Amino acid sequence: MSQVIALFNMSGGVGKSTLTMNLGYHLAEDFGKNVLLVDIDPQASLTTFMGLAPFELEKTIYQSLLHREPPPIIPELKKCDLIPSNIFLAQAELQLSSELRREYKLADALAKVRDDYDVILLDCPPSLGLLSVNCLVAATYLLIPIQTEYKSVEATINLLQTTYEIAQEVNPSLLVAGTVPTMYDERTSQARRALQTIQEVFGGLRDNLSFRDAIVFPAIPRRTDFANAAAEHLPLVSYAPRHAAIKPLRAIASSLEGLL
Ligand SMILES: Nc1ncnc2c1ncn2[C@@H]1O[C@H](COP(=O)(O)OP(=O)(O)OP(=O)(O)O)[C@@H](O)[C@H]1O
Ligand SMILES: [Mg+2]
Repeated sequence: MSQVIALFNMSGGVGKSTLTMNLGYHLAEDFGKNVLLVDIDPQASLTTFMGLAPFELEKTIYQSLLHREPPPIIPELKKCDLIPSNIFLAQAELQLSSELRREYKLADALAKVRDDYDVILLDCPPSLGLLSVNCLVAATYLLIPIQTEYKSVEATINLLQTTYEIAQEVNPSLLVAGTVPTMYDERTSQARRALQTIQEVFGGLRDNLSFRDAIVFPAIPRRTDFANAAAEHLPLVSYAPRHAAIKPLRAIASSLEGLL
């Protein structure tokens, strides 16, 4: 049975979708894993990054969540399979709210395909609504990207507790794989301080059972090539094979592989 890793942070624009695509690629290409990526964000950034036009898709994760249809898996995009999303998923939050087992829809949908993969990566929306709660229920591990800026670190730390409480209620066995400091600008003292704060906070959470093995993964540098690669619908390594950010991406993929 696959591990299901949710890339989750209720803050927007911290690099969740970018990391999902790149880590998925490295897990598949470098470690030979069978990888399924799931876009559970109505913004459909991951779907777009992977080279699809969300508006043209007839079937997305929406039909699986609302109508129990088999997940519409698009095979072998950038070495990974993908369950796409589009803006119609925004309605799901409201429509699900009156359903029974509304928190379990994603877990139920993925149960049908979990045996086919080594790892499933969930690209969560930047909110703590019902779609995210579905991710927390379906996941075995949480991976929390945090932007290395003072404001983001403060916000995330305040919300980690809330996430933890919700997770405890809906999925007590959920473990935190760790945090990925993202968009790290090593030249600024603010970013260095933010990284230090992340390390201190995660160090202090070790007593907490879910955070017991949580790792502060190598920081991903802030580089415009991430956006350039995404615009070309490519993982960074295919766009710029010798890019400095490949090393931390591979290191994180290697640690995740150890969980499988
Ligand atoms: N390490 C990085 N350095 C510079 N830009 C980055 C980096 N990672 C991602 N980006 C860019 O920042 C923007 C936001 O990234 P991304 O969409 O991955 O974040 P997100 O957390 O998924 O956002 P949302 O919360 O809206 O879903 C994108 O334009 C992306 O190309
Ligand atoms: Mg995103």
